[in-house]
Amino acid sequence: MSTTSASQTPSTTPAPATGIPRPAHTVLPDARGFFGKFGGSFIPPELQKQMDEINAAYQRISRSADFIRELRDIRRHFQGRPTPIYYCRRLSDKFGGARIYLKREDLNHSGAHKLNHCMGEALLAKHLGKKKLIAETGAGQHGVALATAGAYFGIPVEIHMGEVDIAKEHPNVVRMRILGATVVPATHGLKTLKEAVDSAFDSYLKDPAGSIYCIGSVVGPHPFPLMVREFQRIVGEEARAQFMEMTGGLPDCVIACVGGGSNSAGIFSGFLDDPVELHGVEPLGRGTALGDHAASISHGSEGIMHGFNSYMLKDAAGQPAPVYSIASGLDYPAVGPEHAYWHDTGRTTTGTATDDEALRAFFQLSRLEGIIPALESAHAVAYATKLAPARPFQTLLVNLSGRGDKDIDFVMEKYPNYAQENE
Ligand SMILES: Cc1ncc(COP(=O)(O)O)c(C=O)c1O
Repeated sequence: MSTTSASQTPSTTPAPATGIPRPAHTVLPDARGFFGKFGGSFIPPELQKQMDEINAAYQRISRSADFIRELRDIRRHFQGRPTPIYYCRRLSDKFGGARIYLKREDLNHSGAHKLNHCMGEALLAKHLGKKKLIAETGAGQHGVALATAGAYFGIPVEIHMGEVDIAKEHPNVVRMRILGATVVPATHGLKTLKEAVDSAFDSYLKDPAGSIYCIGSVVGPHPFPLMVREFQRIVGEEARAQFMEMTGGLPDCVIACVGGGSNSAGIFSGFLDDPVELHGVEPLGRGTALGDHAASISHGSEGIMHGFNSYMLKDAAGQPAPVYSIASGLDYPAVGPEHAYWHDTGRTTTGTATDDEALRAFFQLSRLEGIIPALESAHAVAYATKLAPARPFQTLLVNLSGRGDKDIDFVMEKYPNYAQENE
């Protein structure tokens, strides 16, 4: 399948959005949680029992009028949805060609798309009578979002975070603590996102009946890839209607960064059955050598990790490989199973952006539009600026998954030269 680096001339081959026979994507996964051969649930029997219960409860509760009404109310009055679509005039003028638009998930309460699924997961936990919400976090955005949801519903929250990320994403750690969450450092291995997931799983296994592991992306065993996608679907549904109203048509391309894949799954879900190209952007970090990036689809192979089958980056022994990205929320060695499926069936195009490209985009968007993006989201912006010159008269819609306040100290301390370049 097509794999495009933002450092090369991006592919101009349209994803086969139309004309190929394909199943109705939105009916997947099947009853066992499979998207084609990807997904499923590969976990110990005691945990499987909990997942079955969560799945049954989700299927029942999420269709009830009460649940739908309460979530709709939360979206509107607490989260501040709908988030707007914004046309980047100065950024588009700089790169020429296509017009670049943003879906402003950075304006979602707590600063990123993560609150969309956290409020859904916590509402489900409330209905299930759970006494504790547990999660991992990389950039801290999922942690902040779950801490916010815990405060809203009055349920205690425990967030697991790699020690390296705790130091890097200090503002988000402070926010989680102010919101009343307990932050547990993951001190093994590389001390980043994968280790945080291991640590959160261990904690969950101590009391699976009384707690719930609110997974932070479209990853993990069934039903989490399904549930998180459904809670994120609001992004795509809003974006489609807003874009039509604003421009009178559909965008030519929708672009989103892919870590585990929740923001991209959310926005893509609104356009799956349209003749619209869907581009997922993976982090290419320092380059293509194993350990220097976290581009799981572009450079990985099929495997099982954290309870699901998907593309993943493996070391020589077949274990999860060390991964790296400047964006803590993207350095995960696997990807959501639906993304693996979309990639293999040709519905999405997978591209990459390096640290360097993301840093440039971080400053370009800040200085040309007055919007400081999260480093994760800056990968999608970078990719759009590479695609734009080759796409005159087209429209590119970028999911701006989060705001960059959490990254400002880190960027200015470690990469002051990028600020000077753009002065
Ligand atoms: C702002 C932002 N965007 C994107 C991501 C990547 O996650 P996902 O691929 O699940 O959207 C993160 C993860 O922390 C994030 O904080």
